[in-house]
Amino acid sequence: MDVALTAGELHDLEADALVLVHFTGEPLGPVAAAADHALGGLLQEVRTSGEASPDFPSRLVVPTMGRLPVARVALVALGPAALLDGYRLRNALELCGRQLKRTAARVAVALEPQVVAALGGDRAAALRGVVEGLGCANSETDRDRATPRHPGTIASVVVMGLSPDEPGLEQVAREASLLGAATATVRSWQWRPSNRFTPQMVASEAVALARETGLESQVLEPSEMASLGMGSLLSVARGSHEPARLIVLRYRGTGGAASGTELALVGKGITFDSGGISLKPAAGMATMKADMSGGAAVINAMGVIAQLRPSIPVIGVVPLTENMPGGRATKPGDVVTAMNGTTIEITNTDAEGRLVLADALAYAIRLGATHLVDVATLTGAVSVALGHPVTGAMGNDPTLLGQVFQAADRAGERIWQLPMFPEHDVVLESDVADIKNAAETRAAGSINGAVFLRCFVGERPWVHLDIAGAAWNDQPGLARLAHKGPTGAMTRTLIHLPFVIAG
Ligand code: BES
Ligand code: MN
Ligand code: ZN
Repeated sequence: MDVALTAGELHDLEADALVLVHFTGEPLGPVAAAADHALGGLLQEVRTSGEASPDFPSRLVVPTMGRLPVARVALVALGPAALLDGYRLRNALELCGRQLKRTAARVAVALEPQVVAALGGDRAAALRGVVEGLGCANSETDRDRATPRHPGTIASVVVMGLSPDEPGLEQVAREASLLGAATATVRSWQWRPSNRFTPQMVASEAVALARETGLESQVLEPSEMASLGMGSLLSVARGSHEPARLIVLRYRGTGGAASGTELALVGKGITFDSGGISLKPAAGMATMKADMSGGAAVINAMGVIAQLRPSIPVIGVVPLTENMPGGRATKPGDVVTAMNGTTIEITNTDAEGRLVLADALAYAIRLGATHLVDVATLTGAVSVALGHPVTGAMGNDPTLLGQVFQAADRAGERIWQLPMFPEHDVVLESDVADIKNAAETRAAGSINGAVFLRCFVGERPWVHLDIAGAAWNDQPGLARLAHKGPTGAMTRTLIHLPFVIAG
């Protein structure tokens, strides 16, 4: 998606649609007021008459009948200015973009001063919000249909109201275009059915991306995993006919080894989670094709990191496998040895995410990682605790947690911390091995996942991001506020993180 900034006037605009925003109880901003004037007061009229609801994120698309150089105007309600943040701004623009893309490949957006003011005067944040929101509208859902249901792509965006001469803003626009596109790709990957997106196919997409963006890549096969002692990861792959893969993507950094920091991003890549022998119920199992959402976020974040070049080196590690109940599958009560020597009693084969991440974290450390962030659709419990748009964050290092929160804020993503108290460790106690992989009660389900993963990072700063709720929006009612389905959660946060850490 091409992005251009213009301080120009409405009559010079070259686009198929113009997006105008309005806030509850506030007068129209300067661009919308000028458009209203050209349209003979139509926008004010639909606001007062109630045709254009002030409720977030209502949209009214009207034809301009030759009175403006764009064929149509979309009036988007952003709700009360006090409630606007980066997340809501992106959602409003995305929902509008999805409606427009069928007829408008070239979209113009007026970035009114009220939007900038509502975001604390941060012009870059407002620019990122509108560009990334529209970029998200381009995710693909028609790959497996003969006749597309959601045709069209937003090919270009012109942002009005910001000066292209303001230092840095054009660069922010270019970055936002990459971040929006990466989020859209992750969503398209989440959408893909598991029979048409196997571990091997995800691995070849990752290698192709590495080639395009100049990342180093390595793909481990099961025999290599076995030589490395990855008994935990391999225990999950046993029940499937699809061979497992472990992808490593490496960006070497620009700052020499000065800081000594090497960030690892580790993503859960279960291409289908049936639960294994601890089989899941049939209802809703189809969405377990998206149990690779964390891995998809890591791979696509690495592609953008390679292009934006932070000073610190970053490694992406993604273990990929199905979790299936085949004849050779791991059975409840089995004991396996992870790469770091820890023995694990597998009490529930459906707690497979932590098993593949255990070896992936250990491997990232073997490759030199000093700081680790894992991203995983790990527990259904996280949406019980926090609801669907919210990622649960747990970690052993307040500094790294703070940096993740700062990155999420820039990315316009919702995130909230859950605790790990010493008492939470009791769930690890096994009668037969060093630790067990699942508790016998439902209490603190998400925290239990984190305390398990902590056994594999030693003393290194580490943050665990549970996106089991955030990765897929299917909460009733929420589809009104945020696009339904896959979200690409944490993709943009991971991209910002090495820049935040580098300072
Ligand atoms: N992939 C699931 C978690 C999940 C649930 C993701 C719902 C997205 C939506 C994970 O592997 C899982 O099955 N977790 C178990 C853990 C339990 C067995 C300790 C769960 O959440 O029930
Ligand atoms: Mn599972
Ligand atoms: Zn899973």
